[in-house]
Amino acid sequence: MSLLIKNGEIVTPDERYVADIYCEDETISRIDRKIDNVHAGEVIDASGKYVFPGFIDPHVHIYLPFMGTYAKDTHETASRAALVGGTTCFIEMICPARGDDPMEAFELWRGKAEGNSACDFTFHMGVTRYDDDAEKKFREIVKRGIASFKIFLAYKGAFGINDEELFATLKLAKELGVIVTAHCENAELLFELQKKLLSEGRTGPEFHYWSRPPIVEAEGVHHLMTFAEMTGTHVYIVHTSCEESLGEAMRGKTRGVNVSVETLIQYLLLDRTDAEPNFEGAKNVMSPPLRDKKNQDVMWKALSDGSVATLATDHAPFDWTQKQMGKDDFTKIPNGIPSLEDRVNLFFTHGVKGGKIDIQQFVASASTNAAKLFGLFPRKGAIKVGSDADLVVYDPNYRGTISAKTHQMNVDYNSFERMQIEGRPHVVTVRGKVAARDGKFVGEFGRGKMLEREPTHF
Ligand code: URP
Ligand code: ZN
Ligand code: ZN
Repeated sequence: MSLLIKNGEIVTPDERYVADIYCEDETISRIDRKIDNVHAGEVIDASGKYVFPGFIDPHVHIYLPFMGTYAKDTHETASRAALVGGTTCFIEMICPARGDDPMEAFELWRGKAEGNSACDFTFHMGVTRYDDDAEKKFREIVKRGIASFKIFLAYKGAFGINDEELFATLKLAKELGVIVTAHCENAELLFELQKKLLSEGRTGPEFHYWSRPPIVEAEGVHHLMTFAEMTGTHVYIVHTSCEESLGEAMRGKTRGVNVSVETLIQYLLLDRTDAEPNFEGAKNVMSPPLRDKKNQDVMWKALSDGSVATLATDHAPFDWTQKQMGKDDFTKIPNGIPSLEDRVNLFFTHGVKGGKIDIQQFVASASTNAAKLFGLFPRKGAIKVGSDADLVVYDPNYRGTISAKTHQMNVDYNSFERMQIEGRPHVVTVRGKVAARDGKFVGEFGRGKMLEREPTHF
């Protein structure tokens, strides 16, 4: 198996130059201005196109039992959508119920992905209960190649953990060199606000925002910063939505807390009016909620200057029938916005073409930084000799429109419906094999591998 990509403009966070890339078997074996003297099974002309490292989505939910139902994608439909959109690797959250055995949960999630995913994958191990038995299992799971944990400060009575468990999790993570990703919202405050709003008859999706205002998220971040300062653990704040939360994280960083921040494509392009004014808004109910538009500029700037390290999706696809579970009570609307497929094209269109982010910083936020934080670099997130040949030959001249009628995700609406895109992957490779071409999936289900990762955050 060999592949030659000719005349593309290679763009990574550190370099930008025109060259040919030769891939043998699953890895990049040569990069040179001109490579002509080789036999290649397939030659791709990338003239006038960019060549990016495969994009990495560090926060997705595929198998997800949540709020009385299950997210709609399978690892086949999700990996197909990811690849068509240029994402060649994702990190899924293992989210066991509090009473579940962590090792069984790890095997369950792994079993769902293995043999089905067309792209490579790994997991953040959800710590939804901490006791002696669970601790033993976490140690074993880390030995099996999972180098990150996920905790929820929200979802009281479901995935959420208490402060004793939070402290123990951070201490264990520090000892093992594991990074801890965290959903930051104060569970008690939002529970009280939910009860108050419902008792006043405020049941529509627009009240989801009022049950989780920015201050509730910011308190969660502040709380995590305090605990992380005490333990010295590297923490990663998932789905940061607003200026208040980012401010708490940056204040933590200034005083020496080891913290990295993620935001989502949803927060850059949608705002809280998209979850209003009638029940249709339920499609855009997620947590933390979509915010006031003024936060979008804050997040774009923070991505551009590197204060926010990664752009993810928190892909959590529930269809319209499932969203109706909350018809009379916004607290029962399954939370989540499907977005795995469209992240890269929307980020390129609004960020790079829109002049909000430099193209090399775009690659850093959507690929390389996640690879570095989560122990995948330079195997992923890089275009170097020896790296996996996960490459995206990107056509900046493509013009198209997003629609649920044509998307690959297994869900019957698209929150970005009718948005224009300027650019799309021409060819996407996974370890040297073409897996998507011009909006069509041509990959192989089951070829995706679980990536075993070493802890790096000591
Ligand atoms: O609304 C969201 N974010 N749904 C998925 C679960 C989570 O909190 O990440
Ligand atoms: Zn979350
Ligand atoms: Zn999530």
